[in-house]
Amino acid sequence: METLVVDHPLVAHKLTTLRDQETDSPTFRRLTDELVTLLTYEATRDIRITDVTVRTPLTLTSGVRLTRPAPLVVPILRAGLGMLDGMARLLPMAEVGFVGMARDEHTLQPATYADRLPRDLSGRQCFVLDPMLATGGTLAAALRMLVERGADHVTAICLLAAPEGLEAVREKLAGTLDPEHGATLRVVTAAVDERLDERGFILPGLGDAGDRLYG
Ligand code: PRP
Repeated sequence: METLVVDHPLVAHKLTTLRDQETDSPTFRRLTDELVTLLTYEATRDIRITDVTVRTPLTLTSGVRLTRPAPLVVPILRAGLGMLDGMARLLPMAEVGFVGMARDEHTLQPATYADRLPRDLSGRQCFVLDPMLATGGTLAAALRMLVERGADHVTAICLLAAPEGLEAVREKLAGTLDPEHGATLRVVTAAVDERLDERGFILPGLGDAGDRLYG
């Protein structure tokens, strides 16, 4: 599983303001939206395209269009919903599927309370949106749902990731990452932070993204 940390001054600037506890909810939402658009630019570098010919007002020329079926974008409720508009701005043709998961605050295990994904994702390219990759339990469960339905190329876009969580996702999905037969899984993030605290929060982090987005 590849991890890409988007190293760009605008990304770092917006992330710093997101981390700031003085940033209010409207600003937090706007910055999340902007940051996701920047991350999407990098996360879609491998998006599937098809060669086409178009006629300009003067002549024929070659170009590309996104391959059909369009990618599936999957925000993980609740906090992932705050990332959907920022991604849809660049990929308005994407289909959207929803997964609802909540992490138990004591066991830190995710429970799935909503599954509105297509049943068959064979050969489908997918993008998962979740601002925080903490213990990795939520993302691993969501990736497993997609891969079990046939998705073969899944990119998770996260604002922040913890090293422990990245390792846990890698371990939990090791069986699906066989380079010859498995799915391609990638995580694109604005930063990999230092570690998790004893409550499973990312340090230094930005707090609880769901609460900061939605109260
Ligand atoms: C948070 C966050 C991720 C998950 C990360 O969601 O948005 O989905 O926890 O934790 P993990 O990597 O340890 O699994 P939460 O369960 O708090 O739900 P919310 O989005 O509704 O706030």
